[in-house]
Amino acid sequence: MTRRPAVLVARAVFGDIVDRLRVHFDVEDNPADRIFSKAELIEHLQGKAGAFITGSERIDAEVLAANPQLRAVCNMAVGYNNIDIDACNARGVLATNTPDVLTETTADFGFALMMATARRMAESEHFLRRGEWTRWSYDMFTGSDVHGATLGILGMGRIGQAIARRGALGFGMKVIYHNRSRLAPEQEAPLGARYVSKEELLRTADHLVLVVPYSAASHHAIGAAEIAQMKPTATLTNIARGGVVDDAALAAALRARTIAAAGLDVFEGEPKLHPDLLTVPNVVLTPHIASATVATRRAMADLAVDNLIAALTGAAPPTPVNPQVLPLKA
Ligand code: GLV
Repeated sequence: MTRRPAVLVARAVFGDIVDRLRVHFDVEDNPADRIFSKAELIEHLQGKAGAFITGSERIDAEVLAANPQLRAVCNMAVGYNNIDIDACNARGVLATNTPDVLTETTADFGFALMMATARRMAESEHFLRRGEWTRWSYDMFTGSDVHGATLGILGMGRIGQAIARRGALGFGMKVIYHNRSRLAPEQEAPLGARYVSKEELLRTADHLVLVVPYSAASHHAIGAAEIAQMKPTATLTNIARGGVVDDAALAAALRARTIAAAGLDVFEGEPKLHPDLLTVPNVVLTPHIASATVATRRAMADLAVDNLIAALTGAAPPTPVNPQVLPLKA
């Protein structure tokens, strides 16, 4: 009898979705949800043909070299900056991600975080919980309008466009964006979206939302110099990745009120945060939950499992990042 391929499920995830893998593979899972160090990850991957991973597992050249039998790494995330794609290509390892299924949920959250930031929801809630609310006053927690304002989007992929739709069609916002490539006119037109330089985006946006993938090119795309170009009344919302923003520079700018406020779902070095972000009042902080609805997290897990099953059974994986490595070696 030929042995079934072995796979690693590196983090805890819905049991019934892991069971789908058990139909095809010998599965080592991690219901205790221990976060593996690099050495532990290398060890747990020994003998595995594939892995279900999340953004907390880093698949680099060293991990791949220590596991030459590995054929597919299937990320339960749309972003895949935790995977060295060049190293995967060099070894013929397939990487997959989970686009599309999280677009609308993530856009909902990005929009909510931007609104919470503009309308000072966290700061005012903290004030209330501290028992400091004793009377109404005309300027208590006055923020800035979202409706009719200029929405700036850095990174106009699927999620950026979904945020633009909410702004333009739901809130009458003027949409400007900057991206590596410009949208087709038929994509821009229904949103009234205007492609602008990064400088114009920074100078003009009332609410700037970051949705750009993290890479060496986008590292600290927003630092002190960029924040200095923004309006003092502007808000900045980051649902992209920690590292796109220089968090130390942002914390300093928030304290100095160079911009009005920020909404952050992602952080450099998360789950650790730059300590100054915890002490500035004008920031809304959430723990990387933009895609976190039950339905969407299930859809993401299902898609990662679809990819893993397809990759190791010779079918076409639905969402490959590096399809050029297909077909995989048996
Ligand atoms: C979450 O950050 C994702 O990339 O899916």
